[in-house]
Amino acid sequence: MKHLEAGNNLLLGVTGGIAAYKSVELARLFIKAGVNVRVVMTEAATRFVNPITFQAITGETVRVDLFDQAHEAAMGHIELARWADHLLIAPATGDFLARMAHGLADDLLSTLYLACPAQVSVAPAMNVHMWEHDATRRNVSRLIEQGVQVLGPALGEQACGDTGPGRMLEAAEIVSSLMYSSEAGLFAGRKVVVTAGPTREAVDPVRFISNRSSGKMGFALAEAFAAEGAEVVLVSGPVNRDDPPGIQRIDVISAQQMYEAVFKHLPGADVFAACAAVADYRPANPQPQKLKKNGEHLELKLVKNPDILAEVAALSDGPFTLGFAAETQKLVENARSKLTSKGIDMIAANLVGKGRGFDLEDNALKVLWSDGEADLPMQSKKNLARALISLVAEQYVRE
Ligand code: C5P
Repeated sequence: MKHLEAGNNLLLGVTGGIAAYKSVELARLFIKAGVNVRVVMTEAATRFVNPITFQAITGETVRVDLFDQAHEAAMGHIELARWADHLLIAPATGDFLARMAHGLADDLLSTLYLACPAQVSVAPAMNVHMWEHDATRRNVSRLIEQGVQVLGPALGEQACGDTGPGRMLEAAEIVSSLMYSSEAGLFAGRKVVVTAGPTREAVDPVRFISNRSSGKMGFALAEAFAAEGAEVVLVSGPVNRDDPPGIQRIDVISAQQMYEAVFKHLPGADVFAACAAVADYRPANPQPQKLKKNGEHLELKLVKNPDILAEVAALSDGPFTLGFAAETQKLVENARSKLTSKGIDMIAANLVGKGRGFDLEDNALKVLWSDGEADLPMQSKKNLARALISLVAEQYVRE
């Protein structure tokens, strides 16, 4: 994704939500960074912030009305759309995302979205239930398919008193993701699918088999790929983590669902990084009702789950594959045999057990590929993820 630079033209669309006040600061920070900013507001946005505020900050007339004769004569909406190097809509309400997803063009800003050939990004802001509603989820997926970059939202307390995802990212975070995250990234123009977290295998409606994976490493990896310019799809098992900005996150529960989500998003992928701790087995007959404790023993029959990584690696025209091996002993030996048995390109192995591996901030990895290896010493999972994807980039290029 091309980044905004000083001297570029940014069209800032403001829609009607309480977070509109944060966009005043956003406009100020972009101007401070040397970007030319023009603001277009929806009618509803003007009920939250007066256009005069934006006008004072940007020194430019703020446009609201599609049928504004004076401005259509001077700089019509098509000219405005052409002028922009980037269209950022912040805050983007649930309603506005829906209108964008469906191509409605019934006011100036929605018309500009259709008319603007430049990169478009949105910083959604809405109540957590609105953000989590199926209709919004579908609209957001659609926008991502339409090439729109989705920034946030962040988790936290909301103006309405609820807590959860829905807050607009802070102005400084938006500026930094549009302007400063790695420019010509190692994975610019590449698509990467990452799995993360554990899977849960249902025993009955209230019980499941799972493991201690926190998703920390997988999320760090997804963020590292995105910071290097990749288009990232993150398929995550149940974890308690914020949506990483600019990444398409697909939440799944079971290994079977993870398998389906991975294969759905795999077409066009250049790299598949399997960081999830997928349950190897699942109960053969998950019970529709809660199991009763009837006897001294309970036998649970388990059947094998599909090995997602091995199946991706077996594709004839598949992506570069990176796997993980969490071992409690014989690290290198077990990891190397996994590299060959699964037929993957690279494996990152780490020791797990007392005080190592799961749910910790730091980790160390031994990385192996067919004719080489590297040691990544104990460091934060974020730094480890960066180092690991540099190794992926080197080996991927060599292929
Ligand atoms: O065989 P093992 O489970 O130790 O292999 C670990 C690696 O394989 C990890 O990269 C994990 O994400 C992946 N895996 C998978 N599907 C499974 C089991 C493991 O993708 N069913």
